[in-house]
Amino acid sequence: MTKILVTGGAGFIGSHTILKLLNEDYDVVTIDNLSNSSYEVINRIKFLANKNFDFIKGDIIDKSILKSIFSKFNIEAVIHFAGLKSSSDSNNNPISYFENNVVGSINLLKEMANFGIKKIVFSSSATVYGEPSTKKCKETFELSPISVYGKTKLLIENILLDIKFAQPEWRIFNLRYFNPIGAHPSGIIGEDPRNVPSNLIPFLTQVAIGKREQLLVFGDTYDTSDGTGKRDYIHVEDLASGHIAALRNLEKAEKNNINVNLGTGQSYSVLEVLRAFEQCSGKNIPYKIVGKRLGDVGELYADTSLAKRILGWEAKFDILQMCNDAWRWQKMNPEGYDKT
Ligand SMILES: NC(=O)c1ccc[n+]([C@@H]2O[C@H](COP(=O)([O-])OP(=O)(O)OC[C@H]3O[C@@H](n4cnc5c(N)ncnc54)[C@H](O)[C@@H]3O)[C@@H](O)[C@H]2O)c1
Repeated sequence: MTKILVTGGAGFIGSHTILKLLNEDYDVVTIDNLSNSSYEVINRIKFLANKNFDFIKGDIIDKSILKSIFSKFNIEAVIHFAGLKSSSDSNNNPISYFENNVVGSINLLKEMANFGIKKIVFSSSATVYGEPSTKKCKETFELSPISVYGKTKLLIENILLDIKFAQPEWRIFNLRYFNPIGAHPSGIIGEDPRNVPSNLIPFLTQVAIGKREQLLVFGDTYDTSDGTGKRDYIHVEDLASGHIAALRNLEKAEKNNINVNLGTGQSYSVLEVLRAFEQCSGKNIPYKIVGKRLGDVGELYADTSLAKRILGWEAKFDILQMCNDAWRWQKMNPEGYDKT
């Protein structure tokens, strides 16, 4: 059995990916400091997979924990999710973000190198594109992230690229996710933000369940069909499959294709998502238009051709499926993991 180290495996995307890995017969060990997640998710993944895997509560900043993991387990490759991910929070706390995301990644890479492990799939983000002049983002675009969070992702991408230049035997994919939403169709695992959600779907589901009064829509004067921002939403289940495809195709990872978009290639406006969600939930969602957020662009979506060509992967689920699954998760877990 191939053992995969998943960092940040108790988080939203990590949990869905671990479940898929286990279902595909990979052996998994995960490290998570639970700074933005709950131990309960580990029990639920085991329940859904009907399999066991190793969980280590720890921080990737801590080199000694990383050393002990690489000494104890025979790791073949790493999927690196662990990181802080709020753009607004990052702008207020740049030191913590650079330390957690960049220093954490360097520590991980250093220990991987010490143990001769040279395969990694890294969670990057479409946020590295910043405000491109073209809406359909190609991996070859110039990158100019606006938030500190986006800058940490770009720094890590560049570190990985330089490692690949210096030591071509490394196998690396930087996966640039667009906007992951949805939940496992069972409703047993899903997205459980600790603070006020800064993303659309968790905010919508919390309004629908009565935890929040109304949805705040940031701006309605963009150059889009209804004036609200349009984004490429991708089902977290599709994203999880994208990681399996990346692992399976690591041998194809070369310098010119190290960065790969994971999106659907389609964009939906905030109001279009709201209507789709109303249709799935049967709820009327009150909303209020407020000012634009700094750094938000009118429309962005992925050019998905490289992912198709290199990974043989494309997204399958549509916006209704994403809303249905997100709503099922919220209904079954009104207070998230800890209080159900
Ligand atoms: N969700 C999104 O919209 C999105 C979009 C693009 C990229 N990403 C990236 O994908 C990755 C996973 O995102 P997510 O939505 O699952 O986030 P998440 O917060 O749900 O999961 C991240 C996990 O990493 C853990 N973690 C954070 N810092 C750690 C550290 N130093 N050591 C150990 N564990 C640590 C957290 O406790 C959490 O469980 C992140 O790197 C994020 O930046 C997410």
